[in-house]
Amino acid sequence: MDLSDFGISVAFLLLIYGDKQVKSSLRNYITWDDIKIEEYKETESFSSGDGNMNGNGSRVIVVDQNGKGHSLSVQAAVDMVPFNNSMRVKIYILPGIYREKVIVPASKPYISFIGDEKRASETVLSWNDKASDKYKDGSELGTYRTASVDIQSDYFCAYGITIENTVIAVAGGYKQQAVALRLAGDKAVLYRVRILGTQDTFMDSNGTHYLYQCYIQGSVDFIFGESRSLYRDCTLHSVADKYGAIAAHHRNSEHENTGFSFVNCSITGTGSKIYLGRAWGNYSRVVYSYCDIDNIIDPSGWSDWNRPWRQRTAVFGEYECRGKGADRKNRVSWSKSLGHVEAMPFLDTTFIGGDEWLKL
Ligand SMILES: *[C@@H]1O[C@H](CO)[C@@H](O)[C@H](O)[C@H]1NC(C)=O
Ligand SMILES: *[C@@H]1O[C@H](CO)[C@@H](O)[C@H](O)[C@H]1NC(C)=O
Ligand SMILES: *[C@@H]1O[C@H](CO)[C@@H](O)[C@H](O)[C@H]1NC(C)=O
Ligand SMILES: *[C@@H]1O[C@H](CO)[C@@H](O)[C@H](O)[C@H]1NC(C)=O
Ligand SMILES: *[C@@H]1O[C@H](CO)[C@@H](O)[C@H](O)[C@H]1NC(C)=O
Repeated sequence: MDLSDFGISVAFLLLIYGDKQVKSSLRNYITWDDIKIEEYKETESFSSGDGNMNGNGSRVIVVDQNGKGHSLSVQAAVDMVPFNNSMRVKIYILPGIYREKVIVPASKPYISFIGDEKRASETVLSWNDKASDKYKDGSELGTYRTASVDIQSDYFCAYGITIENTVIAVAGGYKQQAVALRLAGDKAVLYRVRILGTQDTFMDSNGTHYLYQCYIQGSVDFIFGESRSLYRDCTLHSVADKYGAIAAHHRNSEHENTGFSFVNCSITGTGSKIYLGRAWGNYSRVVYSYCDIDNIIDPSGWSDWNRPWRQRTAVFGEYECRGKGADRKNRVSWSKSLGHVEAMPFLDTTFIGGDEWLKL
């Protein structure tokens, strides 16, 4: 297919210098500009490490399987970014199924993965490792190394792409965990990103994250980790066939400022009933507010992971949710129906300290 299909000039295939003054200072925030691709005027070929950038201190690397970009694979594009990178690099990924495992190391902050707005489901980063798979040396991968895409750096952004792990976990099977995306850097924004898998789909590992209008599919613990994350206007879609849970948040003490907050999300699914959350760690913290919840939730709502002492300290709350799955009549007594004042800290980007790092 032709680039003009995307309304982007061919000149865009090459890196362009802007005519404005280069800003070299480190940015400690994320704006919409960081996840947008603009049209550029001039052409220059891309070379790494030499500080090429456009007017606003960012640059673009185009990934195209058909060979018309700077790179054929996403990882090769990441490899072009210099270590200790200090400016926004936009990796523009043209539609296609990219069968590769991608790692963005901690030494490469300020990277954006950007797809075509209308073709997120056709721009797919795909792999299929599961926890029981073995390294060459015979040892098992374990959960987190299964990630199809593993983001270890700060200030990561993604827009308009799909990230998947194609393993289909067999309920009760041995080490079926198969992570699609692991997000382990601080201060990340995902916008209209689709994250697909079954067991342990999205490892929201650590750091502070904002997910806006994303689609996350899975069965068992399909959002898990110890981050502090706000999920706004997202769809959480269950494909559990025997049992499952949406959120397994890990928190060991009340002093850890972490938790998953789901606001105005749509919770849908097929198959069996699932939990809203399971307490992974004594102080696990998960709150659903203003969510529309289909009839796919086990009436008890929440699980203590067979560790009854966690009932005293886990923070599981619901506020102003609607839909058949939101009926709290048979909820475990240790989950909470929150009042407005209690819910308030979870309702917007102040939950993730957005004042400091989000300019959206
Ligand atoms: C640079 O930033 C300004 C203000 O945010 C924006 O209007 C402009 O489109 C940006 N230019 C490029 C090339 O990204
Ligand atoms: C990156 O920064 C670290 C810490 O400042 C430094 O030790 C390392 O040598 C740098 N690496 C490169 C490739 O510049
Ligand atoms: C996340 O974990 C990694 C190690 O797995 C660590 O290097 C990093 O500092 C952590 N980030 C935050 C924000 O805690
Ligand atoms: C809630 O989400 C829906 C669907 O994404 C969106 O259309 C609506 O504007 C959102 N409502 C608010 C109050 O943000
Ligand atoms: C969780 O609570 C139990 C019961 O109080 C305690 O024995 C255990 O050590 C706690 N776990 C952690 C990681 O603090």
